[in-house]
Amino acid sequence: IEIPFTVKTRIGFDDPQHFDKILEIFARHPIDLLAVHGRTVADRYRPGVRYDLIRTAAEAMSCPVLANGDVTSPAGALEIWKDTATRGLMLGRGAVRNPWLFQQIRQAFAGETPTLPPGREVLRYIESLFDTVTDPDYTELERVHRVKKHLNFLGTGIDAEGLFLHQMRRTTSRAELSRVAADFLDHDQPVALEPVAAPEAART
Ligand SMILES: Cc1cc2nc3c(=O)[nH]c(=O)nc-3n(C[C@H](O)[C@H](O)[C@H](O)COP(=O)(O)O)c2cc1C
Repeated sequence: IEIPFTVKTRIGFDDPQHFDKILEIFARHPIDLLAVHGRTVADRYRPGVRYDLIRTAAEAMSCPVLANGDVTSPAGALEIWKDTATRGLMLGRGAVRNPWLFQQIRQAFAGETPTLPPGREVLRYIESLFDTVTDPDYTELERVHRVKKHLNFLGTGIDAEGLFLHQMRRTTSRAELSRVAADFLDHDQPVALEPVAAPEAART
């Protein structure tokens, strides 16, 4: 069997000045795919992703390169893809906030208008998190905490005032959390789920 050799990297530890050297090391190995998160480790999740350095990687490497960092909307995705001249994009928090983003980006790339999910579909997604990201063996409070971690990303795309985030963070049971979610999302209006606060606000 053949196992592809893929690498994921940031652009340095505390200074991007060493990124060229890092790329030289990568170039000496038979890497099949490289994903570049355009921040240093010290940058954590702060705004200011270095898309220019991701482009440097795409130009320097002979393997396909994926751009990663703050892909949060279909329009932004198109821009980042063009700016970085990469083969594709890797989504992190944007996909947790908005799992419809993959399809929306495909639509944007095809020149179509991205389809926004109605509030109730987003509500179903939140309910599904209890099954997909928590374990029934945990206590209810532990499961609520785990879902809330994910909702920290989602919350920045629900209302501009941060009321959803404020209220959901204070819940201590599944019923309470579901009630808060329903208060904001039990409707048929389309929800853009694009971050209304700085992406940094959604850091874990
Ligand atoms: C909850 C969470 C877990 C992550 N786990 C990993 C991981 O196990 N390995 C990894 O390489 N990156 C991990 N990352 C980093 C993401 O893959 C990505 O590089 C980073 O979030 C930047 O992309 P974004 O701005 O789209 O979120 C994680 C990020 C988050 C938010």
